[in-house]
Amino acid sequence: MPKLIIDNIPVEVAEGTTVLEAAQSVDIPIPHFCWHPALGKAGACRVCAVKMLDGPVKGIQMSCMLPVMEEMVVSTTDPEAMAMRRSVIEWLMINHPHDCPVCDEGGECQLQDYTIAGGHGIRRYTGTKRTHVNQQLGPYIEHEMNRCIQCYRCVRFYQEYAGGTDFGVMGSAGRVYFGRFQDGPLESPFSGNLVDICPTGVFTDKTARFRARYWDYDMAPSICQECSLGCSITPVARYRELLKIIGRRNDAVNAWFICDRGRFSAATPVNNPLRPRTPRIEGREAGWDSALDAIVQRVSELLKNHGPGCIALVGSQRLSLEGMALLPELSTIMLADAPCYFCDERERVQTSAAVTGLTGAISASMADIRQADCIAIVDVDLMAEAPMMVLAVRQAWRSGAGVYSIGETVDLPCECTAVATLDDVPLATAQRPVIICGTSGFTTARQYVSLPMAKGEPVKISCILPGPNSFSAALFSHEHAAISLEQAISSGRIKGIIAVEADIPPELSADIPVIAALDWRNTDTVAAAQIILPTTAWAEMDGTCINNEGRAQHFRKTMNPGLPVHGLNPAGHPSHLHRTIPPGGDLRPAWQIIDELIVRMGGTRTTEQLNGKWEKLRHLDAEGDGLPIYEL
Ligand code: FES
Repeated sequence: MPKLIIDNIPVEVAEGTTVLEAAQSVDIPIPHFCWHPALGKAGACRVCAVKMLDGPVKGIQMSCMLPVMEEMVVSTTDPEAMAMRRSVIEWLMINHPHDCPVCDEGGECQLQDYTIAGGHGIRRYTGTKRTHVNQQLGPYIEHEMNRCIQCYRCVRFYQEYAGGTDFGVMGSAGRVYFGRFQDGPLESPFSGNLVDICPTGVFTDKTARFRARYWDYDMAPSICQECSLGCSITPVARYRELLKIIGRRNDAVNAWFICDRGRFSAATPVNNPLRPRTPRIEGREAGWDSALDAIVQRVSELLKNHGPGCIALVGSQRLSLEGMALLPELSTIMLADAPCYFCDERERVQTSAAVTGLTGAISASMADIRQADCIAIVDVDLMAEAPMMVLAVRQAWRSGAGVYSIGETVDLPCECTAVATLDDVPLATAQRPVIICGTSGFTTARQYVSLPMAKGEPVKISCILPGPNSFSAALFSHEHAAISLEQAISSGRIKGIIAVEADIPPELSADIPVIAALDWRNTDTVAAAQIILPTTAWAEMDGTCINNEGRAQHFRKTMNPGLPVHGLNPAGHPSHLHRTIPPGGDLRPAWQIIDELIVRMGGTRTTEQLNGKWEKLRHLDAEGDGLPIYEL
């Protein structure tokens, strides 16, 4: 571990660390544009200059390119280093349009920050600027090439990190252009990361263009709900509208990036002005008290006529852990059997087998996938079911891992050898082997965990689950010996259903009334329900979910619920009444409604939703890596 001194502070870091990273480790910021933790160094921008005062290297050096060495003495504030950085910024800004006031990146722009911080407040250059023609890159990404400072981050991410082939860098004399050969939508399912990775405004999020400045944003650490991987995100909202999603760093899960599905699909249903926003009884608007009382009354009538066990409480894989934890109590008080956390019996059996078969020792995180040296993908379409897993597999492949596929052909941005069975994969001779499978392939994959290894670690498994909180659903289902709704209905005892954020297939509930649906989405189940209780969406509440690896993660409330100001037209403008709650904003988290029903049925109010073994999750840091539940 080399020891060096940076700005009079002694620093000891691992071999191979750069001077820039060593400085960051003791909170000394060094300006940088082309260097990025996930992409490494390029030495393209020259803005990270420092002065080496003593030791094996002397003079002005690029800190991102220089590995630390014993006895180095570094100054980041030396006048010569500062003058160099100031000059570099001025050169970079010569062709930049200086259009911060009309640029969508203004306020959240690394170039803007370093330009001002570096002291380049006055433009001296009066000549003609180099200009480019922009491209139409599809519905999500806006292109403004004149702002480019040639840091190469975009092309390094798009081609090297993500394996995209339709975007690159083209050059002619002094002109360097980052784009496609011709206009057209970017093809990579990870293209949205260009927005996050570009240190200036060349690539901005077209879907949220000119809607707000950084200081207007409502933001909170959150977790993507689009698949079971649980990538860390930062939703951005304003005026009760979810404007955009930004990727958030989580080294154990998604590293720095997110997929386009997570980035561009999540906001539409949350912003839908026509989603359930007021309690309804038989289609008519009602107050919360009337709707809750009506449920209690209908349940009591059914119990009187048909006896215990006639109500089915149905949870789902998109319900938060807090909601799932309260459902059994409501079931007990309604004299119902254990809640159904799954509608489909096969899905329940397979997901439960996978979740209960995983342990802390064999469950692979996405970080494990990125570091694996042998990966077998068994019968699962990763791009459709867990896109970010594709990016993790590609990083392993870039580091030399062998990638093998069994069964359904997978379209991956890396070399992949198709084999007939897992026996054909050299798992036993690998150092860090991982099997990626769906729930249907888990039992087979599990047998390879006990494979005698020649020299490496035992095989780990990453099982892709059907929904964002499937892991929790399977745990509760197993703990309470719950059956699926399909099985419950086949018993012939069910006379009424209460659906909690559950998507019940219409054919399953065709002959049984859905007494109540608690939901924030417009689903078939909501359409069929006698009583509708509107719940808050994930961005409007605090909650916890467990990803496919078994990692519990907390998500925080980003915005207050209510009709987004921007989307009033389809719903019609609300009446001009004085109100303390915004129109369409009288929603409650599902767990709170369950709690209210428990109280109205004669139970006691819950002060904490997470009890017993879940207690440790109450104060989980939403900005941290999460906590594998195997450590509870
Ligand atoms: Fe060092 Fe760009 S950050 S040269």
